[in-house]
Amino acid sequence: MAILGAGRVGTTLGRRFAEAGHAVRYGVRAPDDPKHASVPGPVWSIADAAARADVVVLTTSWAGAEATLRAAGDLAGKVLIDATNPIGPGMVLTHGTTDSGAEQVSRWAPGAQVVKAFNSIGMEVMANPRFGEARAVLWLCGDDVPACDAVSRLAADIGFEPVRLGPLARARFIEPAALVWITASATLGREFAWGILRRD
Ligand SMILES: NC(=O)c1ccc[n+]([C@@H]2O[C@H](COP(=O)([O-])OP(=O)(O)OC[C@H]3O[C@@H](n4cnc5c(N)ncnc54)[C@H](OP(=O)(O)O)[C@@H]3O)[C@@H](O)[C@H]2O)c1
Repeated sequence: MAILGAGRVGTTLGRRFAEAGHAVRYGVRAPDDPKHASVPGPVWSIADAAARADVVVLTTSWAGAEATLRAAGDLAGKVLIDATNPIGPGMVLTHGTTDSGAEQVSRWAPGAQVVKAFNSIGMEVMANPRFGEARAVLWLCGDDVPACDAVSRLAADIGFEPVRLGPLARARFIEPAALVWITASATLGREFAWGILRRD
C-alpha cells in the first residue's frame, strides 16, 4: 500500500494497516524533510511509493490532491482510496452535491479504480473503530466492484463495519456526511462514529 501524504490521517491509517499485516510505504513531496522522521514506516517520493503499490491511499489536504496525483504518475489499474474531504473556506463542499471530490479524483487519475472511504469519520475513529461490542460504520462507494471488495476487506481488517453505497457518484452523499460528522463533533467531541440500528 502507498499512503500519499504523511499527515494525521495518513499516519493513522498507515499505522493501522501495518498493524493488520499490510506492507505500507508513505509517499510525500519532500521525503528527506526531517519532519518525516517520526512517520511509522518507509518514506519515499510520491512517484516511487505509488509505482510500487497495488493500493494507493490519498490522504493529503484537498488543496494538495491534484498535485499529488500528478506526481503519482499513471495509476491505471490500481485501487485508489480517496480519503480526502473537498472542503473549502466557510465549510463548503468545493464540488457541491452534483459532483464530488471523488469524481474529480477519478478525472485526475484516469483508469484508477477509485473508492471513496475513510473520509466520513475523524482520525480518532480510524485509530480505534471499536465502540464496545460495536464497530464504527464506514461508508464507501466506487464504480469497480472488486475494488470496493478490496477496500471493504481493508476496512474490516482495521476494525470497521464497511457499508457500500454503490457507484462512485454516491460520494456526493458521503462527502456531506463528513460535514455532518465535523459539525456534530463541536458538541459530541471526537470519539463517536456512524452506526446502524437494525430491526429483524
Ligand atoms: N483529520 C481528520 O480527522 C480527517 C478525517 C477524515 C478525512 N480527513 C481528510 O484527510 C485529508 C488529510 O487530513 P489531515 O488531518 O491528515 O491533514 P494534515 O495532517 O494537515 O496532512 C495533510 C497532508 O497533505 C500533504 N499535502 C498538502 N499539500 C500537498 C501538496 N501540494 N502535495 C503533496 N502533499 C501535500 C501534507 O504534506 P506536507 O507534510 O508535505 O505538507 C500532509 O502530509 C484532508 O483532505 C482531510 O479533509 C481528515
